Amino acid sequence: MKTEERIIVALDFPAKDEVFQLLDRVPGLAYVKVGMELFYSEGPNLVSMLKDRGLKVFVDLKIHDIPSTAYKTIKVLGRLGCDMVDVHCAGGLEMMLKARDALIGDTKLIGVTQLTSIDQQLMNNQLWIRGSLEDCVLHYAALAKEARLHGVVCSPREAAMIKKHLGKGFLAVTPGVRPPGSTAGDQRRMMTPGEAIKAGSDYLVIGRPITASPDPKLAFAQILAEIEVVA
Ligand code: C5P
Repeated sequence: MKTEERIIVALDFPAKDEVFQLLDRVPGLAYVKVGMELFYSEGPNLVSMLKDRGLKVFVDLKIHDIPSTAYKTIKVLGRLGCDMVDVHCAGGLEMMLKARDALIGDTKLIGVTQLTSIDQQLMNNQLWIRGSLEDCVLHYAALAKEARLHGVVCSPREAAMIKKHLGKGFLAVTPGVRPPGSTAGDQRRMMTPGEAIKAGSDYLVIGRPITASPDPKLAFAQILAEIEVVA
């Protein structure tokens, strides 16, 4: 895999004009993520447009529904040629198994463990999940592996643990990445790009440090340079 493909840039924009402005400003991008805001505003057609530009596309809809709905949704996304799609592990084993059965071609299916905006206190007190956050992430990841998903979305802080227990081939896709000196925003469980790769992340999902930068091309180049040293 080329190093630039390990940086999945989160296109958290409300409309496609801003997407294409960014793509024109940062011609080196190889992998992008379409989240709910953009997918719901622009629809499946945008995914085809991005694929036509030669980009890999992660459609991040974090599906969490009854097993048959998850199955039918993953079928539709697979037909679009998405390179990566995801479901919430909290949907349970049967939902993940059904979602896995729906996969077409080379699309990778990833399970979301705990969002990187969730910390231990919030998980215990608001989500009412007992125990440590790490144990919950590992439990969800093991369940995802049992359902034959390709990997999980987790914090880079959990990547080493996931690799140790579930094997090198089980993908760790990690948001919560912040280059030195950049603002955290709503992220709580973070690492720098270099640290995340060293910890075992296969893919870094990075949004605002690139998309909100006054010079996104430079921001992308700096992150790429940082991970090339350790990759
Ligand atoms: O701008 P920032 O780098 O924080 O963007 C991170 C992206 O990763 C967002 O699109 C967010 O929805 C997504 N994400 C996340 N935590 C997860 C799963 C996805 O931040 N556990």
